[in-house]
Amino acid sequence: MSGIGQSNDISVKSPFPTQACLQVGIRTWDTPKHELQDIQWMSALQRPQRSADRSGAGPHEFRMFGRIAGAIRDIAFDDHIIIYLLRRRNAARRSFLEDAMEQPLLEIRDLTASFRIEKKWVVAIKDIEFSIHRGETLGIVGESGCGKSVTSMSILRLFPKTSFRIDKGEVLFSGRDLTKITDHEMSRVRGKEISMIFQDSMTSLNPVLTVGNQLEEAFLLHGTYTRQQAEQKAIEFLTQVGIPSPERRIREYPHQLSGGMRQRVMIAMALAQRPPLIIADEPTTALDVTIQAQIMELLKTLKRDIGSSIMLITHDMGVVADMADRILVMYAGMTMETGTARDIFKNPLHPYTQGLLAAIPRKDKDIGHLYSIEGTVPSLQTMPQGCRFCDRCTKAMERCHTECPGMIEHDGHGVRCFLYADKQEG
Ligand SMILES: Nc1ncnc2c1ncn2[C@@H]1O[C@H](COP(=O)(O)OP(=O)(O)OP(=O)(O)O)[C@@H](O)[C@H]1O
Ligand code: SF4
Ligand SMILES: [Mg+2]
Repeated sequence: MSGIGQSNDISVKSPFPTQACLQVGIRTWDTPKHELQDIQWMSALQRPQRSADRSGAGPHEFRMFGRIAGAIRDIAFDDHIIIYLLRRRNAARRSFLEDAMEQPLLEIRDLTASFRIEKKWVVAIKDIEFSIHRGETLGIVGESGCGKSVTSMSILRLFPKTSFRIDKGEVLFSGRDLTKITDHEMSRVRGKEISMIFQDSMTSLNPVLTVGNQLEEAFLLHGTYTRQQAEQKAIEFLTQVGIPSPERRIREYPHQLSGGMRQRVMIAMALAQRPPLIIADEPTTALDVTIQAQIMELLKTLKRDIGSSIMLITHDMGVVADMADRILVMYAGMTMETGTARDIFKNPLHPYTQGLLAAIPRKDKDIGHLYSIEGTVPSLQTMPQGCRFCDRCTKAMERCHTECPGMIEHDGHGVRCFLYADKQEG
């Protein structure tokens, strides 16, 4: 949704000179600025009792923002339309608008989803809750099999309907529930609104198409470019992600590129539409450490340039420490702990998070052997009855084996563990 919140110098008189406090301009990519005949106005009556210097926002403003957000939502998925203006006519509305733009870009509420395995539906992720704000990086960590990829693939509805279903919950993207939209609408969200960098670039790129074909498709998909423009864009993006001789590389097949280059191609594809949200699922797993560092640096730079939010999935606590603003720790398909990067690294509460941190190799301490959490993540069919971590937890109590703890939250730092339940009740 490029352009929302951008200011510009276009001066057009509102048909509601005294009443309008917000205006939304809509034009096609090709409309010259001086032909803004298709501007749509939205007005809201200013209540006389409202003082001009009032800075807070009440239900009235939020109702009005809802109308505008609805209008944006209805048109934003049209290929040729760009919303270019959200302008205040009254400075007193500043904080309301700023507050409104502060709403999460992505909000997952109570998401539970299952796979059909041997003719039975088995829960894979349960009661997942998190949000990502504009420009924010959320790190999702956890061991292999914890449900990180299932969570991200559920957001984009990438599993076949015959073997996967969403049991309950909402996936709100810019306020729109992605679990409720049609397949056609969803296909327009993918790539343009939310794009994904997959875990394995070798299997995610098509081996029988050239790199150029695949990258150009990302530009052609939403009908904005001609084939020639798409090729130019492909070269431009390959240059941007640091691939040397891009004119030659676009004619090559994935197997002719190194792992690091393939991953860069995937990143270029993910960025092609400059999406507001990028999901990066273990973007560096298959790479050696030097290339890993380069790719992470590249993601950081591109994020800064484009202003996208990133959902970064990784096993690597070092990577999240470097990249993430907030962190979600997953275990056995559930959220165990969530908080700012500082909360998680300076004050980890959950025994599982503490175990993950203790397992990081430290060069400042001679510990003799590397710590690891004993045991393995349970399979979907053998989830423990109570707390999902109880079989591996050194602090497990009796109730942990029969009851599942709820999420306890204080100041944005949440933990799912009975060790803290009494403190909250007290
Ligand atoms: N298509 C599928 N059908 C059945 N079960 C699946 C499917 N995909 C994943 N699972 C199961 O769902 C659980 C979560 O898997 P997921 O791929 O999300 O783990 P992950 O946290 O991404 O692990 P990794 O770090 O290894 O990528 C695992 O138990 C896995 O076996
Ligand atoms: S609820 Fe019990 S088993 Fe689960 S992490 Fe807390 S102490 Fe350990
Ligand atoms: Mg995965």
